[in-house]
Amino acid sequence: MKPKILVTREVFDETLEYLSQYCDVESNQTDVALTPADLAQRIASKDGLMCCLTDRVDAALLARCERLKVVANIAVGYNNIDLAACTARGIMATNTPGVLDDSTADLAWALVLAAARRLTEVERYIREGEWKGWRLKQWLGTDVHHATLGIVGMGRIGQVIAKRASGFDMQVIYHNRHRVDEAIERRLNATYASLDELLARADFVILQVPYTPETHHLIGAGQLKKMKRNAVLVNSTRGGVVDDAALIDALKNGTIRAAGLDVFENEPQLNHGFLQLNNVVLAPHIGSSTEATRRAMAMTAAKNLVAALTGQQPPNLLNPEARKA
Ligand code: DGY
Repeated sequence: MKPKILVTREVFDETLEYLSQYCDVESNQTDVALTPADLAQRIASKDGLMCCLTDRVDAALLARCERLKVVANIAVGYNNIDLAACTARGIMATNTPGVLDDSTADLAWALVLAAARRLTEVERYIREGEWKGWRLKQWLGTDVHHATLGIVGMGRIGQVIAKRASGFDMQVIYHNRHRVDEAIERRLNATYASLDELLARADFVILQVPYTPETHHLIGAGQLKKMKRNAVLVNSTRGGVVDDAALIDALKNGTIRAAGLDVFENEPQLNHGFLQLNNVVLAPHIGSSTEATRRAMAMTAAKNLVAALTGQQPPNLLNPEARKA
């Protein structure tokens, strides 16, 4: 008998083909998120769950899953999963680190450039037929090259972001819970700074910390006030790291110049204040969304899940204690 698994959202054909070799697969290929009640009902008899950041895997759900051995998230972030509750029940949890670093870093840079050079504003202007010709003082943006970049969160993705900064001759400062190895600092030409110092010095601030209770509203009204008036804030990690209402005020009042956002509190129900502002570039949580990367993420999650259900150590196990339980 193959183990039974549930795949909660649409994945690629090759992902399902791979999973079907090892598992009896029930999958929601309609790509409409399952309601919590539907998810609970479908998962009750399953040995494995492959899910996304839109599925909330909390203690109450896990309590109804007598057979569940593994939760394989198709994402590197796993704030949708109650890891402690998984561990307490001996359920392995996995994520997809590594395969999305470059794509997510690229998107962070796309937001930096788009916000600095006002790309979404000027595109609207052209599409609306407003462009009547070249003018010297037209659509003045801010320079990225030779500016100071502040990266908050110097994990894998933060480091890839820093690496790309050398092409723009930027000065890189970073803040992280723990200072990274000196060898990494040297390679990236990056200097450690306290969060306050980084906010005061950086022309561009990119947020790349995981979302946890400690990083909830890491950037709020107080922090925004510490930034330069000409600064640009980019959030390419998780909504909730920024206090969206405070950011809207700061963008409206000129506390900072602009923002580029791929993630929001309560997404996809974003705060309507953002829609009234021209100095914010908005993207619908597509940091890792390239064809190759999303395929790699789905396959990484599938391999984690199959490893867990065939008695092996999943390559990206988040809670090794659960395996011993
Ligand atoms: C992740 O992997 O955490 C991304 O946000 C999903 O796109």
